[in-house]
Amino acid sequence: MSARIDWTSQRAGPLRGEVRVPGDKSISHRAVMLAALAEGTSRIDGFLEGEDTRATAAILAKLGVRIDEPSSCSRIVHGVGLHGLSACDGVLDCGNSGTAMRLLAGLLAGQVFDSVLIGDASLRRRPMRRVIEPLRCMGARISGVGDDMPPLHIGAANGLRGRRFTPEIASAQVKSAILLSGLYADGETQVCEARATRDHTERLLAAFGWPVRRDGNCVAVSSGHHLRAIDVRVPGDFSSAAFLIVAASIVPGSCLTLHDVGLNRLRTGLLPVLRVMGADITEHDRREWSGEPVADLTVRHATLRGVDVSPDAVADMIDEFPALFVAAAAASGTTRIRGAAELRVKESDRIAVMVSGLRTLGVVVEDLADGADIHGGSLSGGTVASAGDHRCAMSFAVAGLIADGPVRIEDCANVATSFPDFRNIAAGCGFAISDAHVDSAPRQGC
Ligand code: S3P
Repeated sequence: MSARIDWTSQRAGPLRGEVRVPGDKSISHRAVMLAALAEGTSRIDGFLEGEDTRATAAILAKLGVRIDEPSSCSRIVHGVGLHGLSACDGVLDCGNSGTAMRLLAGLLAGQVFDSVLIGDASLRRRPMRRVIEPLRCMGARISGVGDDMPPLHIGAANGLRGRRFTPEIASAQVKSAILLSGLYADGETQVCEARATRDHTERLLAAFGWPVRRDGNCVAVSSGHHLRAIDVRVPGDFSSAAFLIVAASIVPGSCLTLHDVGLNRLRTGLLPVLRVMGADITEHDRREWSGEPVADLTVRHATLRGVDVSPDAVADMIDEFPALFVAAAAASGTTRIRGAAELRVKESDRIAVMVSGLRTLGVVVEDLADGADIHGGSLSGGTVASAGDHRCAMSFAVAGLIADGPVRIEDCANVATSFPDFRNIAAGCGFAISDAHVDSAPRQGC
């Protein structure tokens, strides 16, 4: 019997202490994929023990890669080399993870065997045409339902050709899928983006010894090289830190230090936006882990005011909008978000879910095709739907900290996809979240 998990988040605080957020989800996916294709044995420390990244590791194991778990958050990956994966019987389950499905589509397009990628109900609704079309253009045999939706059927490669792409959608997943298939394609594969997206694939490819040519917003790879095993230290996930950053900013009296947070500038667009709103966030001890910038952040409560978020700022903070909606609701004045239509095709329609939830909590919000206008003020209690979206669920937990009554958040189980320890870490800083298990099975009798 599957159980739905609801939470209640209550007014609490101040938030204080020193915390570490779990490893970066995007980097964990990529590290285990590249380590699997490398020659030699790689060690990954700080690997995210989330359902999404564990799904990627499990798929690679099904494809014949031995992955040992010496301790939680560490993996020893016995790489099989670029051409060493083997076919497996049955489907490859990406669970809730769009990153797993899109990146693995690129990687599997270059293999000499067939594979099928499946996902959960949310993933089955997410658009895949954005990877199907470019991969086909390189010669891949790939199809989905209506040429768009999962499951994805990927046929054995029959000679991929490098191409130059200029994707219309700003998507690191699309760019990465193309680059991973480019490792197997004749000639050069190049992606030129109108607006740069997160570059973890490029950085990690280079760290594993694959030549990567970068020129402005263009990145190119050619086949004929090898990935060499390395040790990877995964920084803390800025996208997980974002909930705590917003929480400490809006709860009076708070002062929270977050250690070892990944600060790749293509991920941290929320920081300048919050600073324009008046947030007090300081950075210490900047350093580098496996080619990625890392630092500690101290966040103190501040009085926030509304801000205009321009379309240019969207790619660098694409996963942080649910948290920003809550910061905006707590701020004085209006926050205007534009150019963020991609939010409609994430794990949920994040604009619709956040608008609806905040309205339930008494916030005045206008819902626009590509964003929202959020008129800040006070929040009341109420019951909100997270739509099974991990980032919306955690954002509503932050909203509960400053609401006048308890905020019940429906369907929080998927928080385990990206931040399984959220409840404990949040409680350690001063959140007051309690849970309620709700049977989803039909009731018998009266
Ligand atoms: C990701 C890229 C982003 C982001 C997702 C993770 C990645 O998606 O929303 O959570 O790891 O490449 P898009 O690149 O499709 O915007």
